[in-house]
Amino acid sequence: MAINWAPDSWRQHEARQLPNYPDPAALAAAEAELGHYPPLVFAGEARALTADLAEVAAGRAFLLQGGDCAESFAEFHPNNIRDTFRVILQMAVVLTFASKLPIVKVGRMAGQFAKPRSADMEEVGGVSLPSYRGDIVNDIAFDAAARAPDPQRLIKAYNQSAATLNLLRAFAQGGYANLHQVHAWTLDFMGRSPWAAQYQTLADRIGEALDFMKACGINPQTVPQLNGTSFFTSHEALLLPYEQALTRQDSLTGGWYDTSAHMLWIGDRTRFEGSAHVEFLRGVGNPIGLKCGPSLEPDALLRMLDVLDPAREPGRVTLITRYGYDKIEKHLPTLVRAVKREGREVVWSCDPMHGNVVKAATGYKTRPFERILAEVRGFFAVHRAEGTHGGGIHAEMTGQNVTECTGGAIDVTEQSLADRYHTHCDPRLNAGQSLELAFLLAEMLNQEMRERERRAA
Ligand code: PEP
Ligand code: CO
Repeated sequence: MAINWAPDSWRQHEARQLPNYPDPAALAAAEAELGHYPPLVFAGEARALTADLAEVAAGRAFLLQGGDCAESFAEFHPNNIRDTFRVILQMAVVLTFASKLPIVKVGRMAGQFAKPRSADMEEVGGVSLPSYRGDIVNDIAFDAAARAPDPQRLIKAYNQSAATLNLLRAFAQGGYANLHQVHAWTLDFMGRSPWAAQYQTLADRIGEALDFMKACGINPQTVPQLNGTSFFTSHEALLLPYEQALTRQDSLTGGWYDTSAHMLWIGDRTRFEGSAHVEFLRGVGNPIGLKCGPSLEPDALLRMLDVLDPAREPGRVTLITRYGYDKIEKHLPTLVRAVKREGREVVWSCDPMHGNVVKAATGYKTRPFERILAEVRGFFAVHRAEGTHGGGIHAEMTGQNVTECTGGAIDVTEQSLADRYHTHCDPRLNAGQSLELAFLLAEMLNQEMRERERRAA
């Protein structure tokens, strides 16, 4: 257990990116109320995810983490949850088929509400108001009342997370994720994409394999694993009052766990030395992620790992690199070498989203799909060269047919961004682009596996 740590010890450290609540007593009341609510996840589940991630770190599995940039109260709908879940399933099938590796599925779902912002205030037409920080803090509408941080939103976010998680658990274990449904996961509007046809072919082959296995007596009755899948949740542990209120002592082990999600990560803006966010996460037993951007020096990373993972527990830390397509091959090798030199086993995951934001001529914040793919290629090229495992992908994506990132097989142009631009924060891959990304990842993983076999021979 962490030394000199308590669920509130972060309060003695520098906390960036936290809202200024106009009514501290109302915030304290909301925190106290949340403190009585049931945990959303169980500590044993978090430990199971750590064990799965240890397999990723060892090169025997792959991490697929994805979902909204920011969940919102407005987009809360069962169909949205289902559609994101099924695109993740589709991607997992594509990846498993190509790599023959188990895929660890983690949603940016059921709690991904709070957002870091580059400025505290936003100015429009001479009016200055607090920046929108996600629905768990304030409202996106640009007026003074909407932008005031409201503690009651913590309660609403908790309730929405609980309901979302409930449905995800039902989908994962109740039959929807049964591999025999592999054809049914196809989304209607993907019919036009060449990748949808490729997915159909793959689904046919899986169907044949399942029929063959059935003839041999292997079916969901005899092998229950065929019936469902494991699915975990994650979000950026940004709004510390919320995270603290859901941090509980596990009755089995006595350890502290943040029960708001299975996995929590520290954002690129809050991972500095002395940060309250680092202080908070070092003490919880959950697997944790650390976003690594261009400003992170190898020595600082190693010191950070000493703080976050003194016991060197495999699966504890996932390093999520987010450099930009033109920077990754310059920066990533130095980090990989430093971590390797220290003999640390981490999961290396690629976030090809946050270093590739551009502003379209039409004013929309977007991400060119080609650059996203280029960063993924760069990520795998570095790991191939260093002999390490390109262990995961971290994507902002949705099962909806949105037009937020340009490019892809069904080309989204700068002009068409306005058609269905629904995100509350950063632009997400739509379902077609997500599937296309999965096929590229499959190719990269396949290459890594062949390279490994070649080295072993
Ligand atoms: C995010 O994941 O939404 C995010 C803000 O990322 P980063 O901290 O890497 O900028
Ligand atoms: Co984002």
